[in-house]
Amino acid sequence: MKSKSQERILILDFGSQYTQLIARRIRELGVFCEIAPFNQDMSSYGDKNLKGVVLSGGPASVFDKNAPFCKKGIFEMGVPVLGICYGLQLIAKIFEGKLEKAKNREYGRAVLKIDYADMLLKDVKNSSVVWMSHGDNVIRVPKGYKILAHTEDIPYAAMANLKQRIFGLQFHPEVAHTQEGKKILKNFLFTICGCKGTWTPASFINSQIKEIKKKVGKDKVLCGLSGGVDSSVCAVLINRAIGKQLNCIFVNNGLLREGEAGEVVETFKKLKMNLTFVDAKDKFLSALKGITDPEEKRRRIGKLFIQVFEVQAKKIGKTKFLAQGTLYPDVIESTSSRGPSATIKSHHNVGGLPAKMKLKLIEPLRELFKDEVREIGRKLDLPEKIIGRHPFPGPGLAVRVLGEVTEGRLSILRKADRIFIQNLKESGFYNRVWQAFCVLLPIQTVGVMGDERTYENVVALRAVTSLDGMTADWARLPYHLVEKISNQIINQVKGVNRVAYDVSSKPPSTIEWE
Ligand code: XMP
Repeated sequence: MKSKSQERILILDFGSQYTQLIARRIRELGVFCEIAPFNQDMSSYGDKNLKGVVLSGGPASVFDKNAPFCKKGIFEMGVPVLGICYGLQLIAKIFEGKLEKAKNREYGRAVLKIDYADMLLKDVKNSSVVWMSHGDNVIRVPKGYKILAHTEDIPYAAMANLKQRIFGLQFHPEVAHTQEGKKILKNFLFTICGCKGTWTPASFINSQIKEIKKKVGKDKVLCGLSGGVDSSVCAVLINRAIGKQLNCIFVNNGLLREGEAGEVVETFKKLKMNLTFVDAKDKFLSALKGITDPEEKRRRIGKLFIQVFEVQAKKIGKTKFLAQGTLYPDVIESTSSRGPSATIKSHHNVGGLPAKMKLKLIEPLRELFKDEVREIGRKLDLPEKIIGRHPFPGPGLAVRVLGEVTEGRLSILRKADRIFIQNLKESGFYNRVWQAFCVLLPIQTVGVMGDERTYENVVALRAVTSLDGMTADWARLPYHLVEKISNQIINQVKGVNRVAYDVSSKPPSTIEWE
């Protein structure tokens, strides 16, 4: 992916909730792109075959004391620039147009009236609906700039300096509500930036195979398999590149779901890959004894994982690399401009490993989104059963048994979770949600079964829709399905007398409870 010939677009992130969506749209059009913080130093981009830069939107106002500014150098790199919303206002500010502070942010639909039907707006239908969102108003475009389109409320919905190839849009071309958004992005990429659109999953696989071979040489690679889609695709891809130099390890940490270990081992044996099964259940459970703090659980589990990997690496010998299925959202969450981001959970693979680890990391998927990874998995002939699996966190059920993790509580959770997932699969909802699971709460409630009083556990059902796990909404499962699941759990799982449904979105909640 990093080869010089890979054309790329750079998106500078000013904190918009849509930044990732811009990236997805660009990649859907066959152009590779990456997201960097708004103040990215551009010195390394000279030899990266950079074709254009997009300035994202963002919540700031150019009038703010600490308004984020990009490095001015980006306008001198000789590549076209497209500013979206805040990006447009920044261009207006930098090139000395006139702006005024709006009292309220304006959101919503507007009708785009085209004034210059060429370049960015070539073949774009007049009077199409666009999705606006802006705080400040440009009241005079900078010198040398042309107005490309207006709406009823604003005279500058799109502007450009055609000579310098700098463009600005006051609306969001990346969102589905903007009817001609895709065409506008296409015009920017292909007509203005001169991209060829050669980025496809197949081209990714080929370039990665070459790169992995080069990087690894004659050494060996260790890959921790979790059975989830990311680590599976990562392993199969590396296997294509270096075959038996790859050793996969599947660690039974005692925190897996019912039947999981057997399923993963069987799948990878069928694929004829080197796989070692390590049973470290007792080690993990004793390390978690008495621990209730979520971060402490995560730390202990992470540390043990690495210990197990290092022991295996030593056994195999000549192992220099540890492969991980880190994805792009993990990378962005830990490096983006979204302020000095607090560690919400020390989970993402990036940065979650001890600094002193002896193995070097190899992360072939770190520039991809989940749906791209699934696509690549299909191209690599991974069974649909693995590709369609919901994400499962590294610390496993330990972060879903709230409070102390014990064998007994894990067993209750596994049984409830199996019922939930089975019902979702049978009703067709499994593939319609991003992720679903049960959580065992650390409280007991009073119930009545037959004529007896019970004082038992509560299970919460969590099901969310999401594009990438960074934001999520609770899934609107039908009441009758929730009812069926609740009845089955309470009737069949000993130790549970109450089921609750989690109706929180992310943010402000997170997907997992710990
Ligand atoms: P949160 O709970 O932060 O989760 O909203 C977002 C997504 O990440 C998954 N997750 C993890 N994945 N190791 C992982 O590989 C972890 O420690 C971990 N914790 C959360 C979570 O399941 C959701 O898909």
